[in-house]
Amino acid sequence: MDRKDIDKKLKEELGQKRYLHTVGVMYTAASLAMRYRYDIDKAMLAGLLHDCAKKVDDAEKIRICKKNNIEISEAEMQTPSLLHAKVGAYLALKKYEVSDEEILHAIEVHTTGEPGMNLLDKIIFIADYIEPGRNMAPRLDEVREMAFVDLDKALYMILHDTLEYLKDKNAVLDPKTKITFDYYRRDYDN
Ligand SMILES: [Fe+2]
Ligand SMILES: [Fe+2]
Repeated sequence: MDRKDIDKKLKEELGQKRYLHTVGVMYTAASLAMRYRYDIDKAMLAGLLHDCAKKVDDAEKIRICKKNNIEISEAEMQTPSLLHAKVGAYLALKKYEVSDEEILHAIEVHTTGEPGMNLLDKIIFIADYIEPGRNMAPRLDEVREMAFVDLDKALYMILHDTLEYLKDKNAVLDPKTKITFDYYRRDYDN
């Protein structure tokens, strides 16, 4: 399936709000790819597909994981919506016929990040947070600017603010988010 076909399908499936977010992530990922000299088409395809499993219901996400030996962490069992990343990577491959490993990996880690992310992983993780439709996060202007100055610093800021937000809300924290933060904070703390 090419990007046009995938776009059409997702427009039907995601609903207007999530589709607009998706398009925002796609073009933000393209902009970051221009800035950091990554393949623009790959960045756009990853952005387009990153939330492709967002509307799959929780029971179905768990079923897909079990059937395909996709590991479910404790946090994901508690909050199955987190699984839309792993299930998204699975659907990108099986349903949308995208087999590029970097694209699939960027989709898989887009909710928590992970230590040692590659350039596309970082582009998608950051684009998801800063795309133009977002307006809730604190110091978004600062993070948006930093994304085009120092990608790793922007990543650190996003992880920091995400952890603060989850702490405030008493929300379930996927331990992987904290592990990612601890990995990227090394260069910036103290
Ligand atoms: Fe997502
Ligand atoms: Fe997203």
